[in-house]
Amino acid sequence: MGYSRFRSSGAMCDNPDPEKLPVVTEMKNKQQRKKKTMAELADRHVLYEKSVQDVDQEYHFVNKTFRKLRGRRPQHVREDFCGTASMCCEWVRRRKKNTAVGIDLDPEVLAWAREHNLASLKPEARERVTLIEADVLEVQTPQVFDAVLAMNFSYQLFMTREKLGGYFKKVREALVDDGILFLDAFGGYDTYREIKEKRKYKGYKYIWEHASYNPIDGRMVCHIHFSFPDGSRMKRAFSYEWRMWTLPELRELLVEAGYTRVTVYWEETDPETGEGTGVYSPATVGDADPGWICFLVAEK
Ligand SMILES: C[S@@+](CC[C@H](N)C(=O)[O-])C[C@H]1O[C@@H](n2cnc3c(N)ncnc32)[C@H](O)[C@@H]1O
Repeated sequence: MGYSRFRSSGAMCDNPDPEKLPVVTEMKNKQQRKKKTMAELADRHVLYEKSVQDVDQEYHFVNKTFRKLRGRRPQHVREDFCGTASMCCEWVRRRKKNTAVGIDLDPEVLAWAREHNLASLKPEARERVTLIEADVLEVQTPQVFDAVLAMNFSYQLFMTREKLGGYFKKVREALVDDGILFLDAFGGYDTYREIKEKRKYKGYKYIWEHASYNPIDGRMVCHIHFSFPDGSRMKRAFSYEWRMWTLPELRELLVEAGYTRVTVYWEETDPETGEGTGVYSPATVGDADPGWICFLVAEK
């Protein structure tokens, strides 16, 4: 027979090392078990905002595009699928007369928004933000909004033309006569592949996974994971089941919903580097890139 289990632990040696006694090892393990991993200590909403949102860019795009099309400043904004309401907060922070209404059906994320983002606003700015816990398909808001924003592709959770078209119609009813709906969209041939894309940030890695894509009904399942330098992971911090709508389908649905003009704003390319510049302008032809993001601007 080989070594007994006691010998291998060192407990039966002549001069036992207390560090190696089973009871001490057990205590140490307990202490180690108590020490939280970086993943356990992290806040998924903070990581989400840092990794996927750029409210500064979004604010400038909405403000500049609206002014160019309508010759006035947009003041009253509704942020659909608002999540942590970071755009609502950015909106009211920028101008004293700006107001924002955020809509989301998840009470947990709205509570987080109040506790973190709204709490960091000055009281007079906070008064200009209203958060509503509701389904965007059912919510009743007055017809006062200059702009409605549906960003980060959230409308893709509507799987049928009937549902998505119904949503676009409902938004139209909430817009003032010269109001505009702003959406973003993504695509490219990588979209249809089951792949993972990693990006490094200070203190963590962001992983975007296309877990599955069904070419027959266009459904895709995506996950966001985060990993940390101590080896811990936050798996499936966010998961989405979306239909991969194409730009022609979205444009047709928006026109059917009554919008008079629907324009795609495509990212300009730096002729020297061939990289995107972060500036989006009206376009009718785009590059067949592996992955792209653009804005859709639907005018009432
Ligand atoms: C991807 S997050 C978008 C967060 C933020 N708008 C952004 O730009 O990153 C999607 C949010 O939509 C919310 N949501 C999903 N279905 C909804 C619905 N039918 N009505 C309102 N909110 C919904 C979810 O609770 C989630 O907070």
